[in-house]
Amino acid sequence: MASIRLERITKRFPGADAPAVDSVDLDIADGEFVILVGPSGCGKSTILRMIAGLEDITEGDLYIGDRRVNDLAPRDRNLAMVFQNYALYPHLSVYENIAFPLRLHKAPDEEVEERVRRSAQMLELEELLDRKPSQLSGGQRQRVAMGRALVRDADAYLFDEPLSNLDAKLRGQMRTEISRIQSQLGITTVYVTHDQIEAMTLGDRVAVLRKGVLQQVAPPRELYEQPVNLFVAGFIGSPPMNFMPATVSGTTLELPVGRMEISPDMANRVAGHEVLIAGIRPEHFEDANLLDEDRRRRGLVFSERIDVIEWLGSEQYAYIPFEAPEQVRRPLEELATELDSEQIRTQLVVTLDAESRVAEGEPADLWLDPSRMHLFDPESGENLTHGSGVDARTLASA
Ligand SMILES: Nc1ncnc2c1ncn2[C@@H]1O[C@H](COP(=O)(O)OP(=O)(O)OP(=O)(O)O)[C@@H](O)[C@H]1O
Ligand SMILES: [Mg+2]
Repeated sequence: MASIRLERITKRFPGADAPAVDSVDLDIADGEFVILVGPSGCGKSTILRMIAGLEDITEGDLYIGDRRVNDLAPRDRNLAMVFQNYALYPHLSVYENIAFPLRLHKAPDEEVEERVRRSAQMLELEELLDRKPSQLSGGQRQRVAMGRALVRDADAYLFDEPLSNLDAKLRGQMRTEISRIQSQLGITTVYVTHDQIEAMTLGDRVAVLRKGVLQQVAPPRELYEQPVNLFVAGFIGSPPMNFMPATVSGTTLELPVGRMEISPDMANRVAGHEVLIAGIRPEHFEDANLLDEDRRRRGLVFSERIDVIEWLGSEQYAYIPFEAPEQVRRPLEELATELDSEQIRTQLVVTLDAESRVAEGEPADLWLDPSRMHLFDPESGENLTHGSGVDARTLASA
């Protein structure tokens, strides 16, 4: 087992305008499970391939344990990799497919037998060892590919979207499986995905990439609650964080739905910005009529007409469109395009308790929790309130 350290790792492909991976620093502890996420083309696979040694590093240093491995051949790095498009050998049995890496290293038969049985047991493939890949389901084939990685004593596992070919149900099963195996074995793992459920549930820490640049590395909860910028805020969470225009004059913060007083310190932090983007997650709203006086007082109560309601049984989503100026509309449109999200737009999506009786087309008294609100710079996307919620003192409806 080993730690993996990336120091200012850059990859430039010949002829490309921008680097595919741009000066990435990432320190992965021994035994840690780190997820790489980000939109298509952001450099996830390239990073993994540089760690594995399948792609040259243009600049920077890569360490496995204490050893700098930039110039070490892939087979000498002792890493096991599962690719997005794993290929099994069609003419070999499941047993021999799993045994393959051990055969390459000329392991004795008894050792092969013992290791293949153990990894087949872990992946519940024992009944299938005599079959050929063509006689397996997609999920079973995926498990064989994993078995082939797990069968070796690798220093680290590298997974590149190993579940992407599976349907939703199998993905869920395999996700639990991977989680269980990794915590059992405690082996350093770097796992690429663009599925944010995998990102949030599997990793100790999640690294978010955008166009080759690392945006934030943090445990899932921190990423969700304290995103450093608009990109991370919009990428993590479903439905996504709501973004609306905000202006500050003196210590008064004005939103499309109401007005509140903020602390002088907060006002200072956002000073000099004509318009801001306020971000607040759907679950930090509620039907004001369901709250006691104390909670109502700690949040902003406002009245809006509900456009659409989706009742899901355990909760409901209410949709409320709003107007936004060009300085806010444009960055949000760019973000929606970049994240390929139809849900980021000039409307609020709020989660309400299933008990709520608000109705489509009717005005409703709603409530939001300003301590969970973030304020972003529309130009740079930076979260100006990172590390703290908006500290609201007195609240007033519009
Ligand atoms: N061999 C190559 N030659 C030139 N450019 C490449 C090569 N491989 C990848 N790229 C480019 O590098 C960038 C990063 O690609 P990469 O495969 O790492 O993205 P990714 O994050 O894994 O995306 P996906 O989620 O679609 O798998 C992309 O712009 C891609 O076009
Ligand atoms: Mg990829």
